[in-house]
Amino acid sequence: MADTMQLVLAGADERDLTKLGEYKAVGGYATLEKARGMSREAVIEEISSATLRGRGGAGFPMGRKLSLVQPPEAAGKPTYVVANADESEPGSFKDREIMSRVPHRFIEGCLIAAHAIGSRHVFIYIRGEYLAEYEVLKAAADEARDAGVLGDVALIIHRGAGAYICGEETALLDSLEGKRGQPRPRPPFPPIAGLYGAPTLINNVQTIANVPVIIDLGAAEYSKIGPEASPGTVVYSLSGNVERPGNYELPLGTTLRELIYDVGGGIPNGRQLKAIIPGGSSVPVFTPDQLDTPADFDSIQAAGSFLGSAAIIAVDDRACMVQLALRAEKFYMHESCGKCTPCREGTRWMVSLLDKIESGRAEHADLDLLRNVCDRVEGRSLCALGDFAVWPVRSYIDKYRAEFEAHIDEGGCPYGGGSSIEGVVAPIDQHTHSPVAEVPA
Ligand SMILES: Cc1cc2nc3c(=O)[nH]c(=O)nc-3n(C[C@H](O)[C@H](O)[C@H](O)COP(=O)(O)O)c2cc1C
Ligand code: SF4
Repeated sequence: MADTMQLVLAGADERDLTKLGEYKAVGGYATLEKARGMSREAVIEEISSATLRGRGGAGFPMGRKLSLVQPPEAAGKPTYVVANADESEPGSFKDREIMSRVPHRFIEGCLIAAHAIGSRHVFIYIRGEYLAEYEVLKAAADEARDAGVLGDVALIIHRGAGAYICGEETALLDSLEGKRGQPRPRPPFPPIAGLYGAPTLINNVQTIANVPVIIDLGAAEYSKIGPEASPGTVVYSLSGNVERPGNYELPLGTTLRELIYDVGGGIPNGRQLKAIIPGGSSVPVFTPDQLDTPADFDSIQAAGSFLGSAAIIAVDDRACMVQLALRAEKFYMHESCGKCTPCREGTRWMVSLLDKIESGRAEHADLDLLRNVCDRVEGRSLCALGDFAVWPVRSYIDKYRAEFEAHIDEGGCPYGGGSSIEGVVAPIDQHTHSPVAEVPA
């Protein structure tokens, strides 16, 4: 049985850590003082030796990013810390929990990162729909500012307007600068020329929330948790057809079987597990024979997919994989920013072909064409959204091809209306093709 292990969310079950006094009572902001007493190089060294891998999707080591940022004296410009709180990957809902339950730990991480790169400006870019989280975060930031915790650092919280592409780091920077949020060509990368052309550290909320944990525990202790190359815990967002969906903080490397069956309580209503999406909707799908894969960056990649934002989605045997592919692709088509042709045009082609297959109007040549479009978009787009639009569709075709062929041979969905992707994806408005807006609580 996998046991939860709370480092980032530590103390939040027992106390209201949104309050500064409560956070200080569990040692909060003492780590910031410790870090400020260390040299910048020593802080970077600690994060580097802890091998903290980015929790926003790509798993890039934060220490390496930190050491790429030129200090202000060398750059002749200010440096900036930007926290990516845009969390829009379907299936991912861990940053919202971190911001709403341990906002001060996240702010403390931002301030330690600012010290490490000699920055006096922290920007937090939060997803527009996260109004409740924004209010908690703002109240925490105000309390910290009033108490003098921020020192000479200006902390700015900026609300996005609800675009998935603004989670891509360079689109986020453009959006923050007041421009239309579209990815920039790279190089240069943000540590060299980021916000306002200045050296910028950009990291995910959860990555940053790990920083005080590492400085407090020390890299040596932190590295003992989880696999050697992916140490630490991660907040897995478990969703889909599972008894107990939710956020669970566990050591990296917990297997998919432990997550779905032990932690999540298995598949409801006596159904069978049909597919596992191991890192948010944009990654290649796994089949049930891959359940024993440890959910860490390298193991998932070695097995043919990505851990992404550690959003694990269970899919039961009622789900039609063509419907699921169509639903995912509509999302990527809708969110494509249109700046480059393969993604802008390719996502439309993919939606159109999937729609034809699902409605029984397709021929076998259409399936080959769809597979071909996937190959022509992957690796040819300006940012990774182009790849994200391909990976689910292509992997569904490759792993569940018989289902796609049955739609063509039988002139429609073989589930005959009995298929359901309910619980796996958000309901969609049939006219706008957008998810039905969440009703605020
Ligand atoms: C289309 C797209 C959307 C993304 N959305 C997010 C997001 O919502 N949150 C996030 O942290 N990273 C997101 N990323 C990854 C960021 O570009 C970037 O890699 C990340 O913020 C780096 O932080 P990390 O190293 O701490 O993971 C997205 C990337 C792409 C291509
Ligand atoms: S891949 Fe898509 S989202 Fe990314 S820049 Fe090109 S059109 Fe925009």
